[in-house]
Amino acid sequence: MPIPCQRELFDVSEDVAYFDCAKMSPLLKAAAEAGISGLMRKARPWEIKAEHFFDESDRVRALFARLIGAAADDVAIIPSVSFGMATVLQNVTVAASQSIVTLAEDFPSTVYAARWLASQADARLVKVARPLDGDWTPAILDAIDGSTALVCTPNVHWVDGGVIDVQAVARRCRSVGAVLVLDTTQSTGALPIDIREVDPDYLVAASYKWLLGPYSLGFLYAAPRHQQGRPLEQGWIARAGARDFRTLMDYGEALDPTARRFDMGERSNFALLPVAGAALEQILDWGVASIAETLGSVTAAIFQRLEAEGLVSPQAARPAPHYLSLRFPIGVGEDIEERLANENVHVSLRGDRMRITPHLYNNEADMERLIAGLRRHL
Ligand SMILES: Cc1ncc(COP(=O)(O)O)c(C=O)c1O
Repeated sequence: MPIPCQRELFDVSEDVAYFDCAKMSPLLKAAAEAGISGLMRKARPWEIKAEHFFDESDRVRALFARLIGAAADDVAIIPSVSFGMATVLQNVTVAASQSIVTLAEDFPSTVYAARWLASQADARLVKVARPLDGDWTPAILDAIDGSTALVCTPNVHWVDGGVIDVQAVARRCRSVGAVLVLDTTQSTGALPIDIREVDPDYLVAASYKWLLGPYSLGFLYAAPRHQQGRPLEQGWIARAGARDFRTLMDYGEALDPTARRFDMGERSNFALLPVAGAALEQILDWGVASIAETLGSVTAAIFQRLEAEGLVSPQAARPAPHYLSLRFPIGVGEDIEERLANENVHVSLRGDRMRITPHLYNNEADMERLIAGLRRHL
C-alpha cells in the first residue's frame, strides 16, 4: 500500500526540497522529542536505575531485529559501520592463499577494513568492477571461488543504487565456505530484507540514513553460529554478569552468550537510543514494503520526467526503488550540488553520479523544484 506524504511528522519546512536521505535523513519530530527527554534524564541521574542500562538497549535491539527478521539476541549495538566491520573482521580467519571480495567504489568503511585484513593475512583482495549493464550480482558470483574466504557487499550500492541479490551471493558463499558480511546502511528501513531467507554471517547498518535514526548509532547482526566470537572492546557491559553492579569487581571472564557481547562500550546511550527506538517503531508501523513501494513511485516519476526532457542517461539495470542515481549525457559542473543547495534543493554527488534519494516527507512541490533546478543547472 502506498503511504501518503508524511511531511507533518518531520521538521522539514516548505521551502526545503530535501532529496538526500542517502547522506543523512532528517529526524522524525517524535524521535527528536524522545531524544531530548532521554538526554534530560542525565540532568537527573538519581532517576537512572540499574535496569535502565539494559532495558532501552534491549527494546531498540528487538525493534531492529524485527525489521530484518532476526531475534534480539542476534543484534549488537554499535556506533558505526567501521566499528561493526572491525568487530566482524577480527572474527574471520583468512589464510595467505585466500581472497577477500569487495565491490568497486564500495563505501570506504568496508574497503579499508577489507584491505587491512588482506594485508594482515597476506591474502588477495579481489575488487569486482562495476559491470557495464549495471547488474552487480552475476559479477560478484563470478568473483567467488574455492579460494574465497570473505565477501563484503552491500545490498544496495551507495553510489549507483544498484540492488545486489544477496540471497544468491549468500548461497554461493555457503557453497564455497566463505563468510558473508553485508553492509545494508543504504537499504535497511527502505527495502525489505529477511535474514532467515538470506542467512548472511553478519550484517551491519548505520542508523542515520534509512533507519531515520541518530548519528553515532548502528546495529550489527551476528548469525547465532558466530555468537561465541571476540568483541572488539573489553568492556564490563558485554560480560555475562553485568547486571549485578555490586559484583562487577569479581571480573568474571564469561561474555554474554548472545550477540550482546559485541555491543560497544556505553551502549546504553540515554539520549540516542530513544531516538532510534521512536524511528524504528514508526518504520515498522509504516511497513518497509510500503515505504519501498512509495519511494519507488517517487523516483520513477522523477526519472521519467528527466528522461522525457533528454536530461539523463539510462539507469542501472536493477536500481533500488528508493534510490535514483543519475548520470548525465553531457556531464555536470563540479558546483551543481552547491548551486542546487543555494536554492534549497538538496542532492549529493558521488563519483560521476547524482544521488536523488527521497523519503516520505517529500511532496509534489519538492519534485517540481528539483526538476526545475536540474533544468536550470544541468
Ligand atoms: C554504505 C555505507 N556504509 C556505511 C556508511 C557510514 O559508515 P560509518 O558508520 O563507518 O561512518 C555509509 C555512509 O555514507 C554508507 O553509505
